[in-house]
Amino acid sequence: MKKYLLITLSFLLFSFTGFQSSPQQKSSDKIINARVDSVLALMTLDEKIGQLNQLSYGIGWGPTVKVSVPDEYKQMIKDGKIGSFLNAIGAEFTYELQKIAVQESRLKIPLLFGLDVIHGFKTTFPVPLGEAATWQPEIVELSAHYQALESSSAGIHWTFSPMVDIARDPRWGRIMEGSGEDTYLGSLMSAARVRGYQGNLSNENIIACVKHYAGYGGAEGGRDYNTVDFSDRTLRDIYLPPFKAAVDAGVETVMASFNEIGGIPSSGSKYLLTDILRDEWKFKGFVVSDWNSIGEMINHGFALDLKNAGEISINVGLDMDMESRSYITYLNELVDEGKVKESVIDESVKRILRIKFMLGLFDDPFRYCSKEREQKNIMTNEIKNVSLDVAKRSFVLLKNEDKILPLSKEYKKIAVIGPLADSKINPLGEWNALGIEEDVISVLEGLKRYVGDKSEILYAEGCKITDPSKDGFKDAIEKVNNSDVIILCVGESRSMTGEAYSRSSLDLPGVQEDLAKELLKSGKSIIAVLMNGRPLSINWLNDNADAILETWFAGTMTGDAVAQVLFGDYNPSGKLPVTFPRTVGQVPIYYNHKNTGRPGDEKNRYTSKYLDLPLTPLYPFGYGLSYTKFNYSGLSLSKDKISSNDQLKINVNVKNIGSYDGEEVVQLYIQDLVGSVTRPVKELKRFQKIFLKKGEEKTVEFTISEEDLRFTAADMNFKSEPGLFKVYVGTNSVDVLENKFELVE
Ligand code: BGC
Repeated sequence: MKKYLLITLSFLLFSFTGFQSSPQQKSSDKIINARVDSVLALMTLDEKIGQLNQLSYGIGWGPTVKVSVPDEYKQMIKDGKIGSFLNAIGAEFTYELQKIAVQESRLKIPLLFGLDVIHGFKTTFPVPLGEAATWQPEIVELSAHYQALESSSAGIHWTFSPMVDIARDPRWGRIMEGSGEDTYLGSLMSAARVRGYQGNLSNENIIACVKHYAGYGGAEGGRDYNTVDFSDRTLRDIYLPPFKAAVDAGVETVMASFNEIGGIPSSGSKYLLTDILRDEWKFKGFVVSDWNSIGEMINHGFALDLKNAGEISINVGLDMDMESRSYITYLNELVDEGKVKESVIDESVKRILRIKFMLGLFDDPFRYCSKEREQKNIMTNEIKNVSLDVAKRSFVLLKNEDKILPLSKEYKKIAVIGPLADSKINPLGEWNALGIEEDVISVLEGLKRYVGDKSEILYAEGCKITDPSKDGFKDAIEKVNNSDVIILCVGESRSMTGEAYSRSSLDLPGVQEDLAKELLKSGKSIIAVLMNGRPLSINWLNDNADAILETWFAGTMTGDAVAQVLFGDYNPSGKLPVTFPRTVGQVPIYYNHKNTGRPGDEKNRYTSKYLDLPLTPLYPFGYGLSYTKFNYSGLSLSKDKISSNDQLKINVNVKNIGSYDGEEVVQLYIQDLVGSVTRPVKELKRFQKIFLKKGEEKTVEFTISEEDLRFTAADMNFKSEPGLFKVYVGTNSVDVLENKFELVE
């Protein structure tokens, strides 16, 4: 633990010096700009267009570690027709490609290598939704730092991460790739990841790409790629802040999303790509399209053909074309026809060259391609330990009846049942880059390692995740009847969340619940270990299992993490970054909703509710138990009125009244009671994760000011409005203490 803290501390010191705009930084910006201009001056139009072209390496999609370079690509690199590759990986292989660019092309401009390093390169960390459940941006930053260290050692310069799309609909498979439903938590995670990846842009860092800009998570019905249509206010107050946070943290690239918003596809949106991103936010990096998102504007019915699509995108500020080949095929003609100005292309080229200079690629194009670093830095014990720590912190204890957890070491026979118990592929989650199942510790392996010869583990798969067969039940029942307690590993397969993996049901797939029902008949206690990349409607488990531990898809070290948490070496501290509905029919259900004119009231028919459901979700946002218990008291405010220059101090006492040391995420929500537009019933504004020894009490202090109360008002200005505000502080978004204050002019 000590060693780990030391790593954290030195890392934070190191990274916080990263993106300051010091005088040296400014002068180095000047030097870079001058060098960019000097290269641009030498370039033909075709060479310029080549810089805007990004192709995926190899045939079709997916990371390619080493295959020989096809002649078409060789020639294109030589002709200066490729600015960047995605999915070309490995020190040796990227070296070969880079060599062609810097030795055989006329201007010797280095290539940029990108990859989806979403939650790990070779060592897999928990999926981003799980990382968000840590409520520890500093831990997420550390995780990103190590992901950068590994991938940068294998030739990668650039990751298409962080994905910061707010997701209020768990049917959407990509909810797993983001930080959940909340704008504030999502913004902190966004900035943390950017800092972690980019650091000070040494060759141990990679540049980040915030995506998918914008509104992609708002897909109607949670169906991937679907239409998005919400107000500009919702866009600005809910969906955009995590992007702005990334820009403020210095993110170097932005990815334009597939979707349209209100009729305009993002990849053709001047409003998003120029007015907001460049004019309002002063973003200096470059924008890359999503995969063929330029070409998809034809299907959207926004562009006539691929040529027209390219014309639209370049003119609204989309700099690099991922895989549609529109720019490389048509920009030259479009310039000839006067539809695209060469000066527009120049700007995009400059933005891309600037980043190649910043990464040091013009000085040493092979900076990232060292076989020695590749051997030294990948899957080290240090990285695996960090992954293990993040995994444990990401788990959320959803239920713990009669304090059955932590598991007693007295159990001599433990039944480990379920299709996810011995799975090594599923804990990897989607977007696992080079993570492979052979490197994963399954729950079964982790538990066996943990108990050694002190207890006997009896394993049965019981059933598959989606298959209807119940043939395996018998074996599972026998094992259970012969055991003292059941650890039941159920959930989704990794391929049920991620891109294009939307589901219309949130229930446990297949016959897993039937299996659980059979096992319950044994009378033995059931500890459910869940793996999934989205909220699930696990009502039966909630009613019948003795304990439920949400582990998401926790990566390489899953089994060790689960064992250490179940046996109490680590006391769970994760909190849900997203609401768990009772049923899919309750979706969208998110904590920061509006009140409506008829707030739900179970006793009053004419109010906003479903006839057949309670008003509440299964588990609210911010929810998560601990093996110990925390008591909240004495919520007090330093003032009952503040003006725009004041700071408001909010204090609360938190006491550990249970039997274990533990961590608690103390959450602060605010409600603006009356506005020129209606306001959410609650908004997360601050949180602190604190550690309390058994019996210990601490006063937690939060500071907020007028700035925290701003929103897009009726006149579309981002500002606060005087009036009454409620303050809620507690252990989740529902169980809170309450107080109030007034903002005066
Ligand atoms: C996804 C992006 C990803 C890109 C490159 C697209 O299909 O939407 O998130 O970065 O592919 O792999």
